[in-house]
Amino acid sequence: MKALVVGSGGREHAIVRALRRSAAAPEVLCAPGNAGIAADAECFPDVAADDVDAIVALATGHGVDLAVIGPEAALVVGAVDALEAAGIPAFGPSRAAAELEGSKAFAKELMAAADVPTASHVLLRSQEEAIAALATTAYPTVLKADGLAAGKGVILCADETEARDALDVYFTERRFGATAVVMEEFLEGEELSLLAVCDGENVVPLSPAQDYKRIFDGDEGPNTGGMGSYSPVPGLAGAAEVEEIVERIHRPVVAAMAERGTPFHGVLYAGLMMCVDGPKVIEFNVRFGDPETQAVLPRLRSDLVDLFRAAREPGGLAGMSAEFDDDWAVTVVLASAGYPESSSKGDVIRGLAEAAAIAEVTHAGTAARDGEIVTAGGRVLNVTGLGPDPAAARDRAYDAAGRISFDGMQVRSDIAARAVARLASP
Ligand code: AMP
Ligand code: GLY
Repeated sequence: MKALVVGSGGREHAIVRALRRSAAAPEVLCAPGNAGIAADAECFPDVAADDVDAIVALATGHGVDLAVIGPEAALVVGAVDALEAAGIPAFGPSRAAAELEGSKAFAKELMAAADVPTASHVLLRSQEEAIAALATTAYPTVLKADGLAAGKGVILCADETEARDALDVYFTERRFGATAVVMEEFLEGEELSLLAVCDGENVVPLSPAQDYKRIFDGDEGPNTGGMGSYSPVPGLAGAAEVEEIVERIHRPVVAAMAERGTPFHGVLYAGLMMCVDGPKVIEFNVRFGDPETQAVLPRLRSDLVDLFRAAREPGGLAGMSAEFDDDWAVTVVLASAGYPESSSKGDVIRGLAEAAAIAEVTHAGTAARDGEIVTAGGRVLNVTGLGPDPAAARDRAYDAAGRISFDGMQVRSDIAARAVARLASP
């Protein structure tokens, strides 16, 4: 069989590797891919991930049996609808179902209707409306662009002055391209990413993960696409704990989507805050998380091709589960100089082979140049260490990451440190 993975990040590299472990032994193609993915799949660098026509043409031309869409941008413009219409089986939500991520207002309305716990919120459609709302809200408060902003459209505001400045960013500068802003209650607790594979009716949870959004140690500095992750999560390693969350969050959402005639097929990613009164949704994504996938998929023992194929059929996942190793995984992201505001291209990367001998190295922003691998984006590489406990996995990840070097390399030094501490003194 032939599988096509659409995207070019560490997430897609991890998906490519997991597909290659399938008993179906697929030949794997990737569009556009990157310099590291090219070692594991045939890459098509000229096909952009969100160019639906080009993806359909590629898949049709190569007789692809299964397409897997990584990034949300392709899903919200209808990549899965177009592929399926052309007769190519595709894993991921339809354009209509991708609204769960594409519009925060849609997600909030659906959660209210399905009684799924989330931060209380108001939708603000103009700067005037927003200024009035700021005067009566509690602080800190959270403002978000209503639309896709690659994880960067959120501003936490300590007081009204900060919130007014944030409104200028959204409505005057139009930095995130949104025409409306969601203002929501500030939630306190540990963050959790719980992803599940869905078939329109059934929900098969994957192993839980935690993601590190800020650029600097101690969760300081601006938000990024994600600087590291680990899986599973202390206190949630058992199926019963995960099931309790899925029952409260994922199942009602999948049921509500089906009732509306837009059944959800694909990965439903719940970004949760574990509050004192239970889990609350921060956001939904309609695809695998990056870098959660780099920590979760290396631990997957079930066959990913089977899960993807079953998820396309209404009810196809009935009776299936996703099984994981008992090992822990810790993923450290290596980012280039200037990230997240900018990125540095063309810096020569050294030590990749030494690192790969110790840990799983997946590529994100890399390119090949004159026989060398160089940086080509903000997030450059992911290094995933596996081990019987979080400390061992973490040591492996950092040992391997320490073998890699490039000019201006940025690495957080505290990925999974809290998990190690929590398990050392329960
Ligand atoms: P989002 O893009 O909605 O996932 O938000 C990015 C990050 O902002 C989250 O991972 C949280 O760290 C933080 N955040 C978002 N919404 C809230 C909230 N209501 N309360 C506290 N922190 C939040
Ligand atoms: N790790 C956050 C995301 O994939 O959106």
